Amino acid sequence: MKTILVLGGAGYIGSHTVYELIDNGYDVAVVDDLETGFIEAVHPKARFYEGDLRDKAFIDSVFDKEKVDAVIHFAANSQVGESMVKPLKYYDNNIGGTRTMLQSMIEHGVKYIVFSSTAATYGEPERIPIMENDHTQPTNCYGETKLAMEHMFYWASLAHDLHFVALRYFNACGAHPDGNIGEAHDPETHLIPLVLQVPNGQREHIDIFGDDYDTRDGTCVRDYIHVCDLASAHVLAAEYLMSGGKNDVFNLGNGVGFTVKEIVEASEKVVGRPIPAKVAPRRAGDPAQLVASSEKAKKVLGWKPKFDDIDTIISTAWKWHSSHPHGYKA
Ligand code: UFG
Repeated sequence: MKTILVLGGAGYIGSHTVYELIDNGYDVAVVDDLETGFIEAVHPKARFYEGDLRDKAFIDSVFDKEKVDAVIHFAANSQVGESMVKPLKYYDNNIGGTRTMLQSMIEHGVKYIVFSSTAATYGEPERIPIMENDHTQPTNCYGETKLAMEHMFYWASLAHDLHFVALRYFNACGAHPDGNIGEAHDPETHLIPLVLQVPNGQREHIDIFGDDYDTRDGTCVRDYIHVCDLASAHVLAAEYLMSGGKNDVFNLGNGVGFTVKEIVEASEKVVGRPIPAKVAPRRAGDPAQLVASSEKAKKVLGWKPKFDDIDTIISTAWKWHSSHPHGYKA
């Protein structure tokens, strides 16, 4: 049985990937510092190590104990807004943590790493749908650090026996269909969980950040991709590397864009009641449209998203949020 080390396996996408790995017969170890992750989100069959990737002695001790076949790396700070007011935190944790961990990984002879990157590496897109070889000019510090991490893997792979896949996610959303794990950010900034706070009685209305964009209804268009589909792509990417696949970068999205207003309408349909919305000023740094071409992931990795219907995606989120209105907190 192969052992996969999941860094950040107590976070939103990491925890769903751990479930997917265990469902597919892998042995899993998780590292997380629990700054933004939750111990309750860690699959009971995974071995858990609490610690920080910048702590070389800690990460060395994990690689000493575990016979790791491949690493899947989610451990990073990921809030765009925060990255603009605390850029050095992002350089320190995202780039510094990855650098220290990579050093340890190489010293322990572990060759394969799948890494969470982001659509934020592109910045303002040059065309829609976005292809992997389009220009990358991040418009925020979060995206800049993720791009720097991609470059770090590339240069390290030229010098060492290291092979990597970077997965650039578009808008991760939804929750495990069993309703036991899901999205829990504090503060929450993402559209779907905020919309669902209205029927959950936690907010009066949703603010729509700008309705004067050059889109079909004036609100921003995003490519919403279910977290379990992201999870399955990580498993496929790890298998691709372990069977000799070469370094590569893949977009992960559904290839279909929904406006903010369409997300509110779909959520009303799912929960069966009106969700009041008010138009508010634009949020700084939001591109009008972000839609992925994921043809490459489909062709090379054999990835096939299962959740391609927005109502079903939102239903899984609603199942989680309505049963866990305060996330993992009691
Ligand atoms: N939005 C609102 N009201 C809200 C919250 C969001 O109108 O209360 C809008 C945003 O302006 C945006 C859309 O809903 O147009 C989606 O916003 P999210 O914050 O849910 O997601 P983003 O597209 O801003 O960000 C996501 C990821 C980031 C990643 C980025 C890539 O969360 O990690 O995609 O561009 F960097």
